[in-house]
Amino acid sequence: MCGIVGYIGENKARPILMNGIKRLEYRGYDSSGISIIEDDKLLCEKSVGFVSELEKKISGKFNEGTSGIVHTRWATHGAPTIENAHPHIDCSGKISIVHNGIIENYNYLKAKLEKEGHTFTSETDSEVIAHLIESHYDGVLEDAVRMALNEVEGAYGLAVISLDDPGKLIAARRGSPLIVGIGERSHYVTSDVAAILEYTKEVVYLDDNEIAVLTKDNMQTTDIDNVQIEKRVDEIQWNLDKIEKGGYEHFMLKEIYEQPQSLSEAMLGRFEKDSNLVHLGGLKDKENDLRNIRRIIIVACGTSWNSGLIGEYMIEEHLRIPVEVEYASEFRYREPIIEAGTMVIAISQSGETADTLAAIHEARKKGALILSICNVVGSSIARGADCGIFLHAGPEIGVASTKAFTSQIAVLSLLTLFMARIKGKEEVLNSGLASKLIEIPEQVKTILDNSDQIIEIAQLYKDSDNCLYLGRGYNYPVALEGALKLKEISYIHAEGYPAAEMKHGPIALIDKNMPVVVVATTDKVYLKILSTIEEVRARGGRVIAIASEQNNEIAKLVDHVLYIPETIDALVPILSVIPLQLLAYHMAVMRGCDVDKPRNLAKSVTVE
Ligand code: F6R
Repeated sequence: MCGIVGYIGENKARPILMNGIKRLEYRGYDSSGISIIEDDKLLCEKSVGFVSELEKKISGKFNEGTSGIVHTRWATHGAPTIENAHPHIDCSGKISIVHNGIIENYNYLKAKLEKEGHTFTSETDSEVIAHLIESHYDGVLEDAVRMALNEVEGAYGLAVISLDDPGKLIAARRGSPLIVGIGERSHYVTSDVAAILEYTKEVVYLDDNEIAVLTKDNMQTTDIDNVQIEKRVDEIQWNLDKIEKGGYEHFMLKEIYEQPQSLSEAMLGRFEKDSNLVHLGGLKDKENDLRNIRRIIIVACGTSWNSGLIGEYMIEEHLRIPVEVEYASEFRYREPIIEAGTMVIAISQSGETADTLAAIHEARKKGALILSICNVVGSSIARGADCGIFLHAGPEIGVASTKAFTSQIAVLSLLTLFMARIKGKEEVLNSGLASKLIEIPEQVKTILDNSDQIIEIAQLYKDSDNCLYLGRGYNYPVALEGALKLKEISYIHAEGYPAAEMKHGPIALIDKNMPVVVVATTDKVYLKILSTIEEVRARGGRVIAIASEQNNEIAKLVDHVLYIPETIDALVPILSVIPLQLLAYHMAVMRGCDVDKPRNLAKSVTVE
């Protein structure tokens, strides 16, 4: 949510900042702004709307400066206006800041600063930081930043420049990600490595309450009390092609089509050669603790919550360990019971979702073992856990999560197999979970290669106002995910339900204008779901079924069938969700929606 890029070095700052911020636009896109130090002046420009608007405004300007900061915003405090866009500047016009996160005591600080004579020009919480730094400034920028941050409550990823200290770029972090990039006689600051990958792969992940003072040639890191800290330099493993569209019209479509590869990568090097035994490097040190786990709570939000539900079904079926799945936002505030032997699994693509992060802090306080399942290496949730498994799905840029969902299910399957190995559960190891998982990437490819019919179906239903998604067992979370995909990118109202619940309410909605997507693969509840289909048909509803290949019978009952290959029940969701992702994508595109930047949304929800 919101994106930050900063640069100081030998090169012209503007193209570096603008290229970087364009790559972060998926994190927030209601307004943007840039500050550059040039010819002893602090230049600043802001605009409302996409970054392309800002680019137009600064065309032919800001060409010479070699340090600056830029921001793309997803509004929290104050509407998306020029005044509320970042950077925010102090009264002297010399200090410029960009901020991600929320300053919780900003009302108090603002009143105090106003009493001291500071004038505010925005409704944001962030602007207080610029004025606070100004109020503490006594010749050394980093000292003023440190003193200002000591007064601040809340979360920040912050980058600061000042005309009085033009050779410095200050970066600070608490609760909102911030990364320093190390280049040839230059330093970068960013909230997301995608922004700087073009320039450097060497990065330092700042931890909470750390401040980095960057010059062209130096980086010094201290904590908020000014104690020096030695930081490790990491190397980013992604290549640039992973964050480009590569010929696809949208990132979302590219990411849907990447799934055979992302699923293979999730498994790569994790199976013992020619066997069904799984080894997970990130859990190795915790094998003893994991062997003794008696209860699991999965915390997550949105799509990751949906995959968590599949995890619950899978772990309970195979390992017979009780599992609950909680919305992270509810878990953190409802005094959850955590006893000895409880493990909390946090699932998060970004690894930065504020509610999930807070949930693991809560779980830690109560003594749970915390295991993370994240995509982004170096993310706050991955770093805050006791152990973890990465998805290795590559960057997910489309705001609607697709490949992360299927990789999360694959990783939950690997976790199940890993637990089965360390607990000596032979029956699970021989259940087909491993052998069928290995077949999955190729099966996903088959679905993608034969998906033209989905475009025809999308054409027929693109003008619908509502859509119902039904599934049972492992396909119930798939129904939830299908509905979430459709509503978030096409703005069609869609609901997912356990199929049998339809008759307890939603059936009242069904008429000839209601498309009903039924995930009806041949599993142990297949006959039950046929009854639901009959009930929909009896009321004139239009049925789109997702069915297992070779099921010829279902075509007689429904309006359209999309076939998927056979696999075991636990792995069906990885296959059955693919047509639903494509259906949502094509319907949204046909309705003229910007699927990579749906309205009001942002990738990585770093506010509560
Ligand atoms: C839906 C979507 C969101 C995220 C949710 C959690 O397509 O992208 O619902 O799944 O915000 O995000 P992560 O997984 O990053 O914690």
